[in-house]
Amino acid sequence: MSQYDLISTGFYGNTTPEELVQKYGSPLYVYNEAVLRERCKEMRNLVSCPNFKVQYSAKANSNKELLKIIRSEGLHTDAMSPGEIFIMLQSGYHPEEIFFVANNASEEEMQYVIDAGILVSVDSLSQLQMYGRLNPGGRVAVRINAGAGVGHHEKVITAGKKTKFGVNADLIPEIKQIAEQYKLRIVGLNQHLGSLFMEPDGYIAGAQALLSVAEQFENLEFVDFGGGFGIPYRKHSGEQRLDLEALGSELSAIVQDWTAQYGQDIAFHTEPGRYIVAESSVLLGKVNAIKHNGTTKFVGTDVGFNVLARPVMYDSWHDLEFYRNGSRLDGYQLELATITGNICESGDIIAKDREVPIIEEGDICGILDTGAYGFAMSSNYNNRLRPAEVLIRTDGSPELIRRRDTLEDLLRNYE
Ligand code: LLP
Repeated sequence: MSQYDLISTGFYGNTTPEELVQKYGSPLYVYNEAVLRERCKEMRNLVSCPNFKVQYSAKANSNKELLKIIRSEGLHTDAMSPGEIFIMLQSGYHPEEIFFVANNASEEEMQYVIDAGILVSVDSLSQLQMYGRLNPGGRVAVRINAGAGVGHHEKVITAGKKTKFGVNADLIPEIKQIAEQYKLRIVGLNQHLGSLFMEPDGYIAGAQALLSVAEQFENLEFVDFGGGFGIPYRKHSGEQRLDLEALGSELSAIVQDWTAQYGQDIAFHTEPGRYIVAESSVLLGKVNAIKHNGTTKFVGTDVGFNVLARPVMYDSWHDLEFYRNGSRLDGYQLELATITGNICESGDIIAKDREVPIIEEGDICGILDTGAYGFAMSSNYNNRLRPAEVLIRTDGSPELIRRRDTLEDLLRNYE
C-alpha cells in the first residue's frame, strides 16, 4: 500500500472523517476548496495563447457553492440542460459565460436557452434547422464529429461512428446551406471525444482533426476541443497523472501555427469536467454490517449506488481508505473483502474482492476521487435520501454547502 492517504495530505483540514460524519451524518460528500482551486489553476494555464478559455463542464458537479468557486477562478462553463443553466445563473454566472452544448434539445429547451441569451452549440442538421427557425440571423456553434473518440468505457466515448453525438465532418456543405437559409453566423466549432484519457495523443489528434474542419469555415470566433482529461483513480498503487504540461505545450504549438495560417483572431476553448472536480472530493460512509457468505467477507456500508453510481455503471475503480479513532487503518494486515452498499440489488458493489485492512463494524470508509459524476449522478432510488455535501475551506474549517435530503423531500412533488 502506498504512503498516499488523505489524512496526511491535509484533505480534511482541521477535522477528521469521524468528526465530519458525527456532525453532518453519513454518507457524506466532503470537498476540499484548496484542491478545487488548484485544479482550476492548472487548467487555466494549459494553453499559452491570449484567447484561451476553460469552460468547466458542470455535468460533473453542479453544486452551487462549487460553481461559485470555479467562477471565481475565472472559468466559464458549459451546460447541457436548462436545469444546469438555471443553477449556473443562480450561482452568479452571466449568460455570456455559459455555453449550451445541446443533445436532442426540444423546441422549448432551445427557446429557453435563446431567451436567456446563451450561445448554443447544435448537434445535428435538424437541430441547426430548429435553431434557425427559432432564432434566424443568430450566432450559433456546431458540434463536429471528426471521426474518432476516446474514453474509459464504451458508455462515455462520444465521437466516432458508433455514437449519437455531433455532425459528421462530411456534412459541411449541408451545415453551410442551412446557415445561409436562416442567415445564421456559425461562430464556433466544438467537439468532445469522450471522457477520461490519460495519454495526450488521442486528444491532440482530435484537436488537429477539428482544426482541419475549422479551416473550411470563415470568420469563426472559437474552436472548442472538449473535455475528457483523466485523473489517476489508482493513486494508492502509484498511478501517474496525465502529463498536462506536455499536452498543454503541444496544444499551444499547434494552435499558434494554425492561427497564423487562419489569419484572424480566434479563441480556443476546452471543456474539462472531471479534471476540475474529481479529486476535490471524498465520499465518506459507515460500515454498518459485516458478514461472511461462503468464502467472501462482505463489508456492508451505507453507500449505495444511489449515492455513487460509477462502480456499478462503469465498473469504475475508486481507491478506498478506512478510518478508526482519527487515523487511517494501516495496511500491515490485509485481506480480501467485497465492499457493498445498502440498495436492494446484488449488483450494489463498490469494490469486489478488494485487498483492504481488517475492517470492523463502525469503521468509516472513504471513497476517493468522487467529486466528478458522484453527487451529480445520485438519486433517491429505494427512497434513500441523497447525502449532504460539506466543503473544507482553505482555512481548514468545514462548511455545509448542501443539506441532506429529508423524508419530507420525498413528498415534495405530490399535490
Ligand atoms: N463536454 C461535453 C460535451 C461532455 O459531454 C462532457 C462529458 C464533458 C465536456 C466533460 O467531460 P470530462 O472532462 O468530465 O471527462 N459519468 C461518466 C462520465 C460522463 C461524461 C459525459 N460527458 C463517468 O462517471 O465517468
